[in-house]
Amino acid sequence: MEVIIRPSTEQAVDLVARLIIARLKEKPDATLGLATGRTMERLYANLVASGVSLAQCRTFNLDEYIGLEPGDPNSYRSYMQTHLFDHVDIDPANTHVPDGSASDLKKAAETYEQAILAAGGIDLQLLGIGEAGHIGFNEPLSSFMSRTRDKSLTPTTRAQNAEMFGGNPENVPKRALTMGVGTILDAKELVLLATGPAKAAIVAKAVEGPVTSMVSASAIQMHPNCKVVVDEAAASALSGRDYYDFVFQNEPEWEDYRT
Ligand code: GLP
Repeated sequence: MEVIIRPSTEQAVDLVARLIIARLKEKPDATLGLATGRTMERLYANLVASGVSLAQCRTFNLDEYIGLEPGDPNSYRSYMQTHLFDHVDIDPANTHVPDGSASDLKKAAETYEQAILAAGGIDLQLLGIGEAGHIGFNEPLSSFMSRTRDKSLTPTTRAQNAEMFGGNPENVPKRALTMGVGTILDAKELVLLATGPAKAAIVAKAVEGPVTSMVSASAIQMHPNCKVVVDEAAASALSGRDYYDFVFQNEPEWEDYRT
């Protein structure tokens, strides 16, 4: 794992956007794993502004609320249309979001896993992190071998996401259909982006804490190709930052990204 700390939120977001654009230059038909949340809004705005082509890409989102139709303004499908898909040249048929409105969720989950496999797996999986330590909606005690399935949301997560549901956590769906931790770990590369002071404690646990299913995001420590990109605020509880900065300043891989 590499931890990259940028002075500002804009610079952290910009670095991730540049990384994605570089990967797409190498492989225009890459399969991208996408995430939602407020953090990613800035990233998608950056990608849209860059004019990058997603014409040959396939995308798979991490998760979707159960019980919301795709057209519901609070669904993650709507989020993706609003923040990315409607503004880029991606073929709508190549965009995938779990079907949280399916009557048979088990089947929808299996279909999703099969579609990822049929696409040749995910090349780059983008991750945010929830204050409960989730990646996707893998709440505490999610098995590290879990695959796409339905999951109950924690009160912390429902409170964290209440803003998008009129401010009342009770309005946030109780469950979600999410890629499993095992599904996420199968991606060839992971890029976790976290910004702002509210993420500092959980980022430190995920990156430096014990690997435990109580913090699903700690599973990224087991991935052989994982980058964690944070701003100063989200980095503030990390104890090993001098070394992380040293790596970023010296690894040839990061030469183009230091400015
Ligand atoms: C939701 C998503 C997560 C995401 C998290 C972070 O809970 N299911 O995948 O990581 O939001 O949200 P934000 O960026 O708004 O803090």
